[in-house]
Amino acid sequence: MSTLLQQAQIDWDAQGRPHSRQYDDVYFAVNEGIEETRHVFLGQTRLAERFAALAPHACLVIGETGFGTGMNFYCAWQLFEQQAGAEARLHFVSVEKYPLGRDDLARAMRLWPELAAYSEPLLAQYVALHPGYQQFTFANGRVTLTLLIGDVLEQLPQLDAQVDVWFLDGFAPAKNPDMWTPALFAQLARLSHPGTVLGTFTTTGWVRRSLVDAGFAMKKVPGIGKKWEVMNGAYVGAAPSASPPWYARPEAAAGPREALVIGAGLAGSCSAASLARRGWQVTVLERHDGPAREASGNPQGVLYLKLSAHGTALSQMILSGFGYTRRQLERLQRGRDWDACGVLQLAFDSKEAERQGKLAAAFAPDLLHPLQRDEAEAMAGVALPAGGLFYPEGGWVHPPALCQQQLQHPGIRLVTHQTVLDLRKVGELWQAWAGERLLASAPVVVLAGAAEVRRFEPCAQLPLKRIRGQVTRLPATAGSRALRTVVCAQGYVAPPRDDEHTLGASFDFHSEDLAPTVAEHQGNLALLDEISPDLAQRLGTAGLDPARLHGRAAFRCTSPDYLPIVGPMADALAFSEAYAVLGRDARQVPEVACPWLDGLYVNSGHGSRGLITAPLSGELVAAWVCGEPLPVPRTVAEACHPNRFALRRLIRGK
Ligand SMILES: Cc1cc2nc3c(=O)[nH]c(=O)nc-3n(C[C@H](O)[C@H](O)[C@H](O)COP(=O)(O)OP(=O)(O)OC[C@H]3O[C@@H](n4cnc5c(N)ncnc54)[C@H](O)[C@@H]3O)c2cc1C
Ligand SMILES: C[S@@+](CC[C@H](N)C(=O)[O-])C[C@H]1O[C@@H](n2cnc3c(N)ncnc32)[C@H](O)[C@@H]1O
Repeated sequence: MSTLLQQAQIDWDAQGRPHSRQYDDVYFAVNEGIEETRHVFLGQTRLAERFAALAPHACLVIGETGFGTGMNFYCAWQLFEQQAGAEARLHFVSVEKYPLGRDDLARAMRLWPELAAYSEPLLAQYVALHPGYQQFTFANGRVTLTLLIGDVLEQLPQLDAQVDVWFLDGFAPAKNPDMWTPALFAQLARLSHPGTVLGTFTTTGWVRRSLVDAGFAMKKVPGIGKKWEVMNGAYVGAAPSASPPWYARPEAAAGPREALVIGAGLAGSCSAASLARRGWQVTVLERHDGPAREASGNPQGVLYLKLSAHGTALSQMILSGFGYTRRQLERLQRGRDWDACGVLQLAFDSKEAERQGKLAAAFAPDLLHPLQRDEAEAMAGVALPAGGLFYPEGGWVHPPALCQQQLQHPGIRLVTHQTVLDLRKVGELWQAWAGERLLASAPVVVLAGAAEVRRFEPCAQLPLKRIRGQVTRLPATAGSRALRTVVCAQGYVAPPRDDEHTLGASFDFHSEDLAPTVAEHQGNLALLDEISPDLAQRLGTAGLDPARLHGRAAFRCTSPDYLPIVGPMADALAFSEAYAVLGRDARQVPEVACPWLDGLYVNSGHGSRGLITAPLSGELVAAWVCGEPLPVPRTVAEACHPNRFALRRLIRGK
C-alpha cells in the first residue's frame, strides 16, 4: 500500500472550474454542479426519504468513490440536516486518490457559498491528511466522515462497513478506466446488503453490465444538464462472506444506550466521548479525584510519529491516529493546551540517520522531511549536534486538557473516587462493584484502566506490561524561551508551557514506585545533553541540584507488539475450547461463533504514544459497539483486537 501522498493537480479554467491534470477532466460543471449532485446522487438514491425514515439513533452509511472537492458530501449532509430526526446519524465514507490541497479546496468551496455551513467545518479540520484512513467528526458527532486516502482498489478491500447508499463518482470511465473495473464493483457488492442502493452519472454499457454481474439491478433514467441519462441500481446479490468468527462483529448492542467507562485517562475520556457523540449516556468511573491523574497527567506529551517505511499495521494506526488527534486538537486552545510547533527528531547516530533516510523516501514532505544541521538549528532556535527529520504538523499536548475536553459532553457523567474492584454480569447488565457497594451498571462497559484492566477476570490474560517513566519539569529561562519546536533524540524536550519545559522521559521496567527519583532526573538531564548542550546551558542545568528538581512519574502500559488493545472481549476459556483445532491446523476456520462477553470492550495498551492512538481507539471502540464502519483498515482493527493473543497462543500451542 502506498505511503506517499499525491495531491490533486488542479488547473482552474476560464470559467472558474477545477480541472484535473491527472485525469484531464473537470470535477463538475460550475452552474449545474450542485443540481447535478442533487439529481444524480441524492435524488436517484431517494436520500431525502431515507433520512426522514431513520429511526432515532440509527446511522445511515453512504459510500462514495472519489471525494474530490467534497461537494457530494456537503449536499448529503445538508439534506441530512433538513430531513433526519435530531438523534439520527450520518456516516459518510469516501475514497480519494488525490486529495485537494488546502488552497484548492478553499477555492472550490468559494464557488458554493450556500454550502458554507458544511464545507467550512471540513476546511477547519483539513489538517494532517495522509495516506490511509482519516476520520473526521462534525456537528457534535452527528456526522462522521471517514476519508480513505489512496487508490480505491487498495483502500476499499480494507473497509469494514455495511454501506446503505453508494455514490459511484470518479471521472468519466473513458478518462479513468483503471478505476471502473470489476474489482471495484466486487468491492461495492461485498460492502452492500439487500436494500443498498447506488447512483451514478455514467450509463456506459460495460459499466452497467459489470455492475449487473456484481449483483446490482441497474436502471437508466433521464439525466440533467449535459447528461442525457444517468443510472441507479439496487443490490440484489448474495450476502457477503464474513470475517473469521474470532474477528467477526459481535451483535450490535440493543437496549438502552447506556455505557460505563472505567478509567478517565486518555483512553477512557476518548471512549466516553466517542460513545456520547453517538447518543449514549456514559458514566465514567475514576478512582482518583479527577481525570488524567496517571499516565495521562503529564504537563506536556509529544505528538511524535514513530513510523515504519513498510506500512505496517502499527504505522498505519499511527498515521490514522495522528490525523484524528490533530483534528480533535483544533478545538483546544493553542499555546495553553497544545501547540503545533513541529517535532524535530535528531539523527543522533548512524542507525537513526539510516532509518530517517528510509522514512524520508517513503513519506511526503508535508508529513516529514530531512533537515541539515543548520536548517534544524534555525527551525529549533537553539544549537544542535545534528540535523534530523522534521514533522511540521507534530507538536506538544497537555494531555489533561485533551481528557477534559473529551469529557465535556452532556451525555457524559464523570464520577470520581470510584475504584472498581469487581465486574459482574447480571442478566443484560454489567455491574461495577467496590466490595459490597454497587457503583453503577449498564449493558456496555469499556475497560480503560491501562494495565489495571487485568484485575478484571476477562482481561486477566491480556499481556500488558507496566513501564514506569518520569518526566522532569524545568523552569524556562530567557535563553531557553528561544526553543521553538519539540526536539527529540532518545528523550524529548518541549518549548515551554506555563513557562516550564517538560523533559522526558525515563524507562524503568522494574520499579513499582511512583515517587520521582533523583537518579531519573539526572538521567533526563543526560538525555537533554544529548539533545542540545546549548539548550542545557541556556537552562543552566549544570548548576541545578537534581534533588530539588520537580517532575512526575507514571506507568506506561504496553503490549508485546506495541499496538493498543482495542475491541470486544471474549470468554477466554470458551474461546480456547471453541477454536482448539487451530492448535493442530492453523488454517482451519471452524464455524463456531465466538463466545463474546456481550457488551464488554477494552481500550488499553497505548504504550508511549497514547496521544496518537487513544483518541482514534475511542472511535474504534464506538464503531465496534454501534456496528458502524470501522475507522481503520480491517487488518489494523484485527492487529489491535483483544483476541489476537488468544489466537496466537492457540496456534503456537502455548
Ligand atoms: C513518563 C511518560 C511519558 C509519556 N510521554 C508521552 C508522549 O510524549 N507522547 C505520547 O503520546 N504518550 C506519552 N506517554 C504515554 C501516554 O501518557 C499514555 O499512553 C496514555 O496516557 C495512556 O492513557 P490511558 O488512559 O490508557 O491510561 P491512564 O492515563 O493511566 O489512565 C487509566 C485511568 O484508569 C483509572 N483506573 C484504573 N483502574 C481503575 C479502577 N479499577 N477503577 C477506577 N479507575 C481505574 C486510573 O486511575 C487512570 O486514571 C507517556 C507516558 C509516560 C508514563
Ligand atoms: C469527478 S471527481 C469527484 C467529484 C466529487 N465527488 C466532488 O464532489 O467534488 C472524481 C474524483 O475521483 C478521484 N479518483 C479517481 N480515480 C480514483 C481512484 N482510482 N481511487 C480513488 N480516487 C479516485 C479523483 O481524484 C477525483 O477527485
